[in-house]
Amino acid sequence: MADIETLQSEILAEVEAAGDERALEDVRISALGKKGRVSELMKGLGKMDPEERKTMGPALNGLKNTIVDAIDAKKSALHEAALDARLASEKVDVTLPIAPEAKGSIHPVSQVFDEITAIFADMGFAVKEGPDIEDDFHNFTALNFPDGHPAREMHDTFFFHPDENGDRKLLRTHTSPVQIRTMMQEKPPLRIIVPGKTYRCDSDQTHTPMFHQLEGLVIDKETHMGHLKWCLEEFVKAFFEVDKLRSRFRPHFFPFTEPSAEMDIGYEKVGNEIRIGQGDNWMEILGCGMVHPNVLRNVGLDPDEYQGFAFGLGVDRLAMLKYGIPDLRDFFAADIRWLKHYGFAPLDMPNLASGLSR
Ligand code: PHE
Repeated sequence: MADIETLQSEILAEVEAAGDERALEDVRISALGKKGRVSELMKGLGKMDPEERKTMGPALNGLKNTIVDAIDAKKSALHEAALDARLASEKVDVTLPIAPEAKGSIHPVSQVFDEITAIFADMGFAVKEGPDIEDDFHNFTALNFPDGHPAREMHDTFFFHPDENGDRKLLRTHTSPVQIRTMMQEKPPLRIIVPGKTYRCDSDQTHTPMFHQLEGLVIDKETHMGHLKWCLEEFVKAFFEVDKLRSRFRPHFFPFTEPSAEMDIGYEKVGNEIRIGQGDNWMEILGCGMVHPNVLRNVGLDPDEYQGFAFGLGVDRLAMLKYGIPDLRDFFAADIRWLKHYGFAPLDMPNLASGLSR
């Protein structure tokens, strides 16, 4: 019996000393496993005489139960300690910043929209927007594209299926429908720009089915072509951050302006670099003109009283020119490596005071 007590205190001391669940399992096997010390003693019971077995049986069972209980208690104590240690080591300090560096960046098209907006805001223009899904009236008819007029074919339009009345909605082919929407909602004087997405069924290195335009519209009683020219020259100088600019206005045709022009700006090529402003080469950068009297009539304005100018420019191409981006399609490839290279810092809002681009 004394042996049993010694063995018990020996094993209980081992249980107590076990530092982790693995060590505890080793103790269990050495005591209660098939060849464990307690198991070996229990095997001896069969060979004992009945008297001896009567006392040794309960004693050994008691020993076994005591050890099982001690191991269970130790096991849950160790488990809890391990959990506490893990919780402590994996603690998250929610007051720390989430990411050590900002991962997103501003797409060049967004940046250029912000730059253009800053320039025109300085000249007193307000920003207007309109829907991408348009109807024939706003995109064509009100802009003086008569039914069946060949100019409608110039825009490779994406049409929706006709509705029950046979009317087809379309994806706007330019931002000009917002001229119509604005003039129908507000009375002159008007001085607005319209940044937005536009759509034409076209795709190659310089055309994508979705692209970006910026429209401008000024309507009052005296604004003339001279104002248009000054305004656009000032814009181009501010945008390309140059002091001098060679420009020319070439006669052109748009149904909604009369007279109409395309504006060319001078540039020179130095090595691979294109320098805007001076030089012997001309590059077309926008379409413009005086708002056509029919357009004014279509929105309920008297052309004998009101007049003004409009212009429309391709924002993607301006971004490519300013930031040396060779392929338009990369704008829409959603490639994070491209964005890392060409993107802008999120909080670097362009403004005329600190410089448009940095
Ligand atoms: N809407 C014309 C286009 O997309 C551009 C433009 C706008 C021309 C305003 C003149 C005046 O081609």
